[in-house]
Amino acid sequence: MCGIVGYVGERQARPIIIKGLHRLEYRGYDSAGVALVGKGGQIDLYKCKGKVDDLEHFLEGKDTTSTIGIGHTRWATHGEPNDANAHPHFSQSGRLALIHNGIIENFRVLKDALISHGFSFRSSTDSEVLVNLIEYIQDTNECTLEEAVRIALQQVVGAYAIAVIERGNARRIIAARQSSPMAIGIGEGEYFLSSDAASIIDYTQEFVYLNDGEVAVIEKGKPLQIKNLFGEASKVDIQKLEMSISQLEKGGYPHFMLKEIHEQPDTIVDCIRGRVNPETREIILSGVLDNKDKFLKAGRIIFVACGTSWHASLIGEHLIENLCRIPVEVEYASEFRYRNPIIRPDDVVIAVSQSGETADTLAAIEIAKRCGAFVYGICNVIGSSIARATDSGTYIHVGPEIGVASTKAFTGQVTVMAMLALVIGKLRGTIDMDYYHQVAGALLELPETIRKALESAPAVEKLASIFTYAHNFIYLGRGYNYPTALEGALKLKEISYIHAEGLPAAEMKHGPIALIDAEMPTVVIATLDHTYEKTVSNIEEIKARGGKIIAVISEGDTQLRKRADFCLEVPSTAECLMPIVSIIPLQLLAYYIATNKGRNVDQPRNLAKSVTVE
Ligand code: G6P
Repeated sequence: MCGIVGYVGERQARPIIIKGLHRLEYRGYDSAGVALVGKGGQIDLYKCKGKVDDLEHFLEGKDTTSTIGIGHTRWATHGEPNDANAHPHFSQSGRLALIHNGIIENFRVLKDALISHGFSFRSSTDSEVLVNLIEYIQDTNECTLEEAVRIALQQVVGAYAIAVIERGNARRIIAARQSSPMAIGIGEGEYFLSSDAASIIDYTQEFVYLNDGEVAVIEKGKPLQIKNLFGEASKVDIQKLEMSISQLEKGGYPHFMLKEIHEQPDTIVDCIRGRVNPETREIILSGVLDNKDKFLKAGRIIFVACGTSWHASLIGEHLIENLCRIPVEVEYASEFRYRNPIIRPDDVVIAVSQSGETADTLAAIEIAKRCGAFVYGICNVIGSSIARATDSGTYIHVGPEIGVASTKAFTGQVTVMAMLALVIGKLRGTIDMDYYHQVAGALLELPETIRKALESAPAVEKLASIFTYAHNFIYLGRGYNYPTALEGALKLKEISYIHAEGLPAAEMKHGPIALIDAEMPTVVIATLDHTYEKTVSNIEEIKARGGKIIAVISEGDTQLRKRADFCLEVPSTAECLMPIVSIIPLQLLAYYIATNKGRNVDQPRNLAKSVTVE
C-alpha cells in the first residue's frame, strides 16, 4: 500500500513525480504529497488530504523549480487521512523529509524514546517517528544521512520502503526496503525511484529492485550504491522491463476496470502464448519441467493467497485434485502464517499473487521455505517480491492491472492453474491424454470463447439497472463454479459497496435460505456441467420461497430460460475452464451496478490494490 516516487537528475522533478503518483494511485489514494529541494537548498513540502488530483490543484501557481524530489500517495494505516498525516514528513528541525510505505511495528517504543529526548510530533503516523529517529541518530552520531538511515533501520521492526532527502543536498536520495517494494530506474545521468517500476516506464526500462535489508545511495552523477544495513556493498543487478505505455492508459474506456474486463481475450492469448502448442496441443511450463522431481514426488500441494488470488486458488484445488490426484489445501496466507502449519519437505507450496507484493503471502512463503517445502509462484508483476522469493514459477502475463478490483488477473491465474494441472497430470500419468488434448484445445479457443462471453455486456448493463438499488445479493455455484460465485460476490462488494455473499449452492438449505424473500436477488452460476440438475433443484428451492433468480446459463439452455427470472448466457468450454468464462458476466454486473450508483470503480473506498501491510 502507499505509492512512492522519487527523482534526481537534470529535469524538473515535479511533473515526473506527479505522473508517477497518478500511476501508483491504485496503491492508495487518501492523501498525497511531494517534497523538493528548492533553489536555495531548502526543502519545499506540499501535501494534502485527497487524491493526486487534489495535490496537483494545491501545487498550482507554486514555484516548484527543482531537479530532485520525493512523492507519496497514501493508504492510511496509522492516523486518519488528513493533511498532517499525509507524506512526506519533515524531521523535527525540517532538515530531512521522508516518505514511507509499510508499518513500523515498534513505533510506540521509538516515539516514547524520542519524546524523552525532546522530540515532538505533528502527525499520528509511524513514519514521522522514523524520520525523527534518523535525525536524532545523525545529530548524536555526527554521521552522514546514509549511515543514520542504516543505524535507524537496525532499530526498526516492521515493513518499509522509504526515501529520504536532506536540506542543502540537491543531488542525493537515500532509499531502503524491507518487505515493501522499491525499484530504482536508471536513466542517463538521472535516477528514478518507485514502488512499481511500471509507473516510471516512460523514462527508462532499466531497473534495480532493492532486496530486503538494502539501502541505496542514489546520487546524481555517481554510480548507484547499494549496501546492507551494516554498510557492506551489495551487487547492483540491473534488469530490463519491457512494457508499453499504452498498457498503463485507459485506451478510450471510461474506467481501467472496464478496459481490463474487455482485454481478457487478449490477456489470455498472452498467458498461453508459447505454452500451449497449437499444432501438437502439448503444454510446456518450464517452471514445472525444470523441477520435475518436486512435482513427481509431491505429497501435497498447498496454495497460499489472499482475496481474488485465493478464489483462483480454490479453482486450482479442483483442477489439481481432479487431474493430478494430489491432495490440495488452499490457505488464506494471513491464517497460514500464524497457525504453526504442518509443512513437510515433500509439500509443494504455490503462492498466488497478482501484485507479487502481498505481505501475508510473502510471509507464508518464508515459512514454507524454512520448513523445506518447494515454493512455486503464480504472479503477474514481473520482478515482484513474491516472484523473486519463490523457487520457481509461472507469470500470468496479463499486463498491468490498474483497476483495484481484480479481473484479468483472476482469469489469467485460473488459466495458468489449468495449464499447471495438465502438465503435472501428464508428468504423473494421472490424466487421460485424450482429455489432456481436449482441454489444451479448449485453452487455445479460450480467447474466442471469452470474446463471445463479453457480447453479453449490453444485456448485463440492462440487468444492472434493475438491481442497482438492491441492498444484498447471494451468489451461488457448485464445483468449479463455487469459487466463481465467491469471486462474483467479492467484485460486487468491492466496487458497489452492496453486501453480497458467495455460497456453495447446496449450502443454502443449511441456513442462508432463511434470507430469501422478494428483496434478495440470487445470482446462480448454472451452466451445463455434471452438477447442473442439482443446481436447477437449488434454484427451484429459492423460487419456491419468492426469491428472484439471475442465472448464468450455457448458450441454448431452454430449461433455465423458462425457470429463472433473468438469464445471462455464456458460451461453453471444458468444464474445468468454465470459471474463466462464467466470471465475465459477473465482473460486468458488478461494474455496471457500481457505475449506476456513481461509485469510483477504479479506486473504491478503503481499498488498495497492493496490500503490503498485514
Ligand atoms: C487486495 C486487492 C485484491 C487482491 C488481494 C490479493 O485486497 O484489492 O484485489 O485480490 O489484495 O492481492 P495479490 O496481489 O496478492 O493477488
